[in-house]
Amino acid sequence: MKPQYWFRWLSQQGAPRFVLRTQARRGDPFAVLMGGPGGIDDPYPLIEELRGRDRLLRTSLSWAVFDHELSRAILRDSRFGVRTPESFDVPKPLRMLAQRSPLPPNPVEPPSMLVIDPPQHTAMRKPVASAFTPRAVAKLRERVETVTEELLDALPSDGSADLVSAFAAQVPIAIISEMLGFPDEDRDLFLGWGDRMTPLLDVGISWRTHRRALESMEVMNEYLDAHIARLRRNPGDDIMSALVSAGELDDYALKATASLLMGAGFETTVNLIGNGVVQLLANPDQLDRLRAEPELWPNAVEEVLRIDSPVQTTARTALEDLELDGERLRRGHTVVLSLAGANRDPKVFADPDRFDVTRANAKEHLSFSNGIHVCLGASLARMEGVYALRALFERFPDLALEGTPRRRRLFTLHGYEHMPVRLGRAAHAKQPSSV
Ligand code: HEM
Repeated sequence: MKPQYWFRWLSQQGAPRFVLRTQARRGDPFAVLMGGPGGIDDPYPLIEELRGRDRLLRTSLSWAVFDHELSRAILRDSRFGVRTPESFDVPKPLRMLAQRSPLPPNPVEPPSMLVIDPPQHTAMRKPVASAFTPRAVAKLRERVETVTEELLDALPSDGSADLVSAFAAQVPIAIISEMLGFPDEDRDLFLGWGDRMTPLLDVGISWRTHRRALESMEVMNEYLDAHIARLRRNPGDDIMSALVSAGELDDYALKATASLLMGAGFETTVNLIGNGVVQLLANPDQLDRLRAEPELWPNAVEEVLRIDSPVQTTARTALEDLELDGERLRRGHTVVLSLAGANRDPKVFADPDRFDVTRANAKEHLSFSNGIHVCLGASLARMEGVYALRALFERFPDLALEGTPRRRRLFTLHGYEHMPVRLGRAAHAKQPSSV
């Protein structure tokens, strides 16, 4: 591990960590929400408290918004760009030391499309976008169904299981691995890397967590070098092969894209499926409604995304001095956007804490963000969510929690790492699906 990595941690994570922890100890709800000591299971009471304070809230670290209309407006406003960790106000010498230790290509640093602005953003997103159009995703439908059924077949009828590791994580990892041309037997590797690297989306993580993430990044880099070399020799029918043959992206950009698609492809959808199971088990009347009217499943998935957003937050940085909602923001100021907060804004969603699979405007949630960075995999995630949840509850109609599911200790990504369930008797092996 390069010693300069420590300076990188200090400037990007250590400094905000100190501020957040100090503020959290003083009882600042924003600091507690952002991770405080040890993370929190239920962010929603804090979100409501903060929403009540101001539409555009000045916090100890940045600005913050919990309002649907304002969040959406900022996401669509070209005066804002995407946050890079450098945007935090840290002393220049520290930042320069950190910059002397460039990282291997990864999802959270340029040239990953997630963290770059136009025109580079357009150049990175365009070559990949055609693989994720609703039409392209519709072609994957059968594959999603088959993978889901195989995973359900492998669950022990009338037994117990950890639903996250045995099912919720496996559906999306299987699909994105195939789309990127990775061998099936490497899936556990990706799950391990994902687990260690997702904390990088948070602010104020510990040096130990940061170091573990960077170690995984280095291993993943070597893996991707070998993968790209293999596809050059022997291209397949997958997105990575197409990107490699097109020759538009250099190897560094190819690896950044592959690592983003891999991470975004399963680290979020696992939470959609897990959060959905918990919501449905907690609301048996809604599950009964879905059993009677299965055509409601797509809307039920929108409602799961709304009420318990798998990605809780994103951020934007002012690219110029500007005025917003009566406040003056300086160039470089960061605004944290609570997607989870926007999704429970009572001005848009009536009785927002109620889980209602028939909610007419559930789809207005911001869980997939908005504007130019709107989630590229939204159609795929929706399809996986619908098939996985519907097939699971059809196969195991008596599914029940067997103990308390455990949340992941993360702030940005919101889902479960462990969900002990009693499956009950399997109803049938396969039912052709119509949604
Ligand atoms: C429930 C599942 C998912 C959720 C909640 C989700 C959420 C998001 C959000 C909130 C963003 C934008 C962040 C921002 O504006 O700063 C995003 C971007 C992105 N997502 Fe997803 N995502 C999901 C699944 C997927 C899947 C399955 C894929 C692909 C296989 C994917 C690929 C991407 C990519 C490539 C971006 C970057 C787009 C850009 O910056 O232009 N996502 N996602």
